[in-house]
Amino acid sequence: MNRRNVLKVAGLSMATAVVGLQAKEEVAVKEAPIAKTQADKIVNRMEMKVENPKKPTDFELKHLPKITIKEKDAKGYTMVEITVGQNDIIHPSTMDHWIDYIELYADDKLIGKNILEAEVSRGATAFSVKLDGVKTLKSTAGCNLHGVWIDSINV
Ligand SMILES: [Fe+2]
Repeated sequence: MNRRNVLKVAGLSMATAVVGLQAKEEVAVKEAPIAKTQADKIVNRMEMKVENPKKPTDFELKHLPKITIKEKDAKGYTMVEITVGQNDIIHPSTMDHWIDYIELYADDKLIGKNILEAEVSRGATAFSVKLDGVKTLKSTAGCNLHGVWIDSINV
């Protein structure tokens, strides 16, 4: 092998080694566990229905938003509290299973939406609302695993 061929072979070896390193790095990146964000864990946005509204199951009670009208302030805003879970059955809040949002509607007009973090907050929120003339309050609550649950009350 003359000097030129030796250099060609050496160059090819270097190129092969570099390509080999890159391939290993790509494999390593592909094989690395992908950290799931909270958004990735929200897997169910289906609207859920209570099978028998006269006799909801514990599972259904655990997901239904409960609307409670509290005091009215001097400016005419009424505190409306929403907690997810009824009959003392409280929905859990863990990193893999939690109420990720709660909305409140007054006569089908969106009043507010609260995005909730897993584990550090549970399915509860409140809005200060002008209720003059409002006939119905409706709340929707999203469980990341078990879908969107709705309940309403007459004002
Ligand atoms: Fe749930």
